[in-house]
Amino acid sequence: MVKIREKSVKTKKKRYLCTIEQKNYVEMKEKILVTGGTGFIGSHTVVELQNAGYEVVIIDNLSNSKADVVDSIEQITGIRPAFYNIDCLDFTALRLLAHKEPDIKAIIHFAASKAVGESVEKPLKYYRNNLNSLINLLELMPQFNIQGIVFSSSCTVYGQPDVLPVTEDAPIKQAESPYGQTKQICEQIIRDTVKSCSPITSVLLRYFNPIGAHPTGLIGELPNGVPQNLVPFITQTAMGIREQLSVFGDDYDTPDGSCIRDYINVVDLAKAHVHAIGRILQKKQLEPVEVFNIGTGRGLSVLELVHAFEESTGVKLNYRIAGRRAGDIVKVWADPKKANEVLGWKAQETIEDTLRSAWNWQVKLREKGVQ
Ligand code: UD1
Repeated sequence: MVKIREKSVKTKKKRYLCTIEQKNYVEMKEKILVTGGTGFIGSHTVVELQNAGYEVVIIDNLSNSKADVVDSIEQITGIRPAFYNIDCLDFTALRLLAHKEPDIKAIIHFAASKAVGESVEKPLKYYRNNLNSLINLLELMPQFNIQGIVFSSSCTVYGQPDVLPVTEDAPIKQAESPYGQTKQICEQIIRDTVKSCSPITSVLLRYFNPIGAHPTGLIGELPNGVPQNLVPFITQTAMGIREQLSVFGDDYDTPDGSCIRDYINVVDLAKAHVHAIGRILQKKQLEPVEVFNIGTGRGLSVLELVHAFEESTGVKLNYRIAGRRAGDIVKVWADPKKANEVLGWKAQETIEDTLRSAWNWQVKLREKGVQ
């Protein structure tokens, strides 16, 4: 407590000096580097970080997003984050950035390839990109006195859990895809690095299924080509971009036979990162590497989600039951108790509002002529 108070007094002084010295007064806040900050989860997280008073520097190679997302972030928050078109594989560029943007206190690392199917076809792309990007950042951090890293992990590390809801202590199972492997290996790389006495700490956030969009409809998910994930496929079908949604399997061991997931609102998910950053910077971590499940704790089947979409938006969906999709887990949902109690974060949004936000985003895209 005392420590924090001292710090805020110092910060105030700094702010005051800043007003006197710079005509163009900008509040001094802790600076956070967000890799992949123009992507789906990244952009929502930048908004929440800025809303919480952090100064954000985005790096993104724009391989799966557009630079104008920075304009949308500015429209939502009134603050334009610094943006650099940098690939995390380029260590020289990362070093130059760290010189140009001194005083980065922590990193949130989103930048990664994430298409499960593509990872099976191009495993080396996934291993190179996802592992080397992380290694570069971990190498950079002590050199520039960057205290901690929040890592985007996934419930995919649990495979099909034996016990549901799944807790953070559940065993890590053999991954179904190279994408899943990279998440497991990246978690291990972070653990080994911290164990080796590198002066850094980390929070691993295991996301369940992120969906939805910002309530303004200014940022959201923009899949490349045919969406692989359920909700973008639903909204594109509802819009008439896709003819029909295939529900992959209705003969699973679940009440209605379709797979069960824990769908988490992307703004809720973004807020979990703000909590994680606070933990790192305020040195509240109980262990140097902490893991949290980021989910709602509620499992919904594919068919339940389809019906919830129809009910909450009033839009009818053309769907059919198709065969099972290879590699699908039957059912998984989170036990978010640790995140609720230790991280101090809890999912707030209802599934209805979340699905409406996804639909609103799809409608806005059509208005802009994007899709
Ligand atoms: C997968 C990954 C997860 C990753 C996420 C985002 C696994 C086990 N999970 O989640 O780690 O973070 O993608 O890329 O690797 N479905 C349909 N029709 C469709 C699309 C999906 O019925 O057109 C069903 C799927 O069979 C599944 C559910 O909807 O039961 C959710 O699928 P999806 O949105 O692709 O996410 P996951 O596969 O759960």
